[in-house]
Amino acid sequence: MYKHMPTAVAGKGLEGVIAASSGICWIDGEAGVLSYRGIDIHDLAENSTFEETTYLLWNGLLPNRLQLREFQSQLARSRELDRRIVDMLRSFPVSATPMEVLRTTVSALSFYDADEKDNSHDANVRKAYNLTAQIAMIVAVYDRLRKGKEIVPPDRSLSHAANFLWMLRGEKPSQTAARTLDIALVLHADHELNASTFAARVIAATLSDIHSAITGAIGALKGPLHGGANENVMRMLLAIEKQGADPVEYVKGMLAAKQKVSGFGHRVYKTEDPRATHLRRMSEQLGKDAGNTRWFDMSRAIELYVNREKRLNANVDFYSASTYATLGIDIDLYTPIFAMSRIAGWAAHVIEQLDDNRLIRPRAEYVGPAYPAPYVPIEQRP
Ligand SMILES: CC(C)(COP(=O)(O)OP(=O)(O)OC[C@H]1O[C@@H](n2cnc3c(N)ncnc32)[C@H](O)[C@@H]1OP(=O)(O)O)[C@@H](O)C(=O)NCCC(=O)NCCS
Repeated sequence: MYKHMPTAVAGKGLEGVIAASSGICWIDGEAGVLSYRGIDIHDLAENSTFEETTYLLWNGLLPNRLQLREFQSQLARSRELDRRIVDMLRSFPVSATPMEVLRTTVSALSFYDADEKDNSHDANVRKAYNLTAQIAMIVAVYDRLRKGKEIVPPDRSLSHAANFLWMLRGEKPSQTAARTLDIALVLHADHELNASTFAARVIAATLSDIHSAITGAIGALKGPLHGGANENVMRMLLAIEKQGADPVEYVKGMLAAKQKVSGFGHRVYKTEDPRATHLRRMSEQLGKDAGNTRWFDMSRAIELYVNREKRLNANVDFYSASTYATLGIDIDLYTPIFAMSRIAGWAAHVIEQLDDNRLIRPRAEYVGPAYPAPYVPIEQRP
């Protein structure tokens, strides 16, 4: 037997494995608790802003007034996209989805970042500001370009959420729209070792650069088992409407066909995802304000049914779909908006990883042919 042969085999999908120590986010999946730096997500959703929450994630403490003002203005000053990045955005095929565009463009941002070759803590904090501002801008600018519209220059007097809506639409958002998006950004900002954050930490731990880590994270977020679920929820609601189907019957059919219903289930939460509580409320309120609760009503009927039949709870993606739809946001921007918030958590985790780094390199349980297998010369192979 080998001296260093590992013995422990993790469950499929690393379920239940603690793979890193972190002081950023704490979740109690049984009790439905989520906290950033120890502060409950409900307190943050009710009282905080994306900027303040990002400061908290990056610095470990809530900012005082001056620190918050400085943070807001540095983030606003970082609203710059190199002309060559905009040229690149113009050159993408119309078939490119915003999430693909985001993944590819974030990778290219490193070419134009003054700190590209510096992997120090301070340089990564500076790059985190840039990435946070730029991800939102890329999403808005690409959406304008693909629709043949003029690019809207950033407004540095606006919050992160309000500036995004401004750059997306070219008109100042209502207070309700800006605050709704702001709360959604707070809710999505971090979630411990979710798949994309784990991917980011693995990449950072090789001492690669933060742009590589965030590009990898965006790639992971794109998948329908992760952030991509919010877009699938809306596609399902639209399909139900188009067919004039009863939402419960439609979902019953999906479950009978052994299909997963996007927006339900979670690896960690065994009860209500606390983020869903806020998104459900916002989806309902926005629907009432707009005099059109059809997406909310449909979602609620599906939620009650899936909960009763499968004991599965709605996750963060379920009501974000109807919330964004009621805000008039295109479906394929939902996951990019998730990224535009989660960059706060990704950056916090990359920086935390590098502050006390060790290469992340687990082992695989080998289940292939027994060793030593013979090397059969090619002329003797069947
Ligand atoms: C989130 C998710 C990937 C977690 O995956 P996981 O921890 O590996 O759980 P599993 O996929 O093994 O699911 C466990 C069981 O619940 C079922 N299940 C989980 N989520 C389901 C869903 N959304 N719809 C229907 N059944 C579901 C599985 O089919 C499985 O049933 P089985 O034991 O009879 O085979 C999973 O719940 C899922 O695919 N949800 C839909 C996509 C989604 O909303 N993702 C966003 C997460 S925030």
